[in-house]
Amino acid sequence: MTVSCRFTVNGSPVYGHFAPMRRLLDVVRAECGLTATKEGCGEGECGSCAVLLDGALVNSCLVPIAEVDGREVTTLEGLRTDDPLFAAFAASGGTQCGICTPGMIMAARALLNDCPHPDLSEIRRALSGNLCRCTGYTGIYAAIRAAAGQGGE
Ligand code: FES
Ligand code: FES
Repeated sequence: MTVSCRFTVNGSPVYGHFAPMRRLLDVVRAECGLTATKEGCGEGECGSCAVLLDGALVNSCLVPIAEVDGREVTTLEGLRTDDPLFAAFAASGGTQCGICTPGMIMAARALLNDCPHPDLSEIRRALSGNLCRCTGYTGIYAAIRAAAGQGGE
């Protein structure tokens, strides 16, 4: 059985017939060719697959495509190329192996959209669903503070 779904990814329309439980993560990567979104755990624990769904942060490995019908998806590729988070992550050592980085930046973007000047506790809370095994988080938090115009830690 398939379901027809029509939605947008980074502003571009997508229409197709999909197995209803196919994961948004797989559709974004395999059907849309947008591979910035990464699979880490595949079970909602690591945040590396995070995207925005109607502006809200979701783990795309947990979202069946049938739930995306009529909605707007934003991946890392859909952010503005001059989003200050990109330069801030590079400058602050907020990325090493890079697997977590797309999800971290999407979580940070969701936070800054809602709260342009977060304090450190708000940043920690907003990124609590995103795991990084490389950086120790200090560079990530510093990057987000810098992108928010608050300088590093
Ligand atoms: S791959 Fe989706 S939360 Fe880990
Ligand atoms: S940079 Fe490697 S998991 Fe975060």
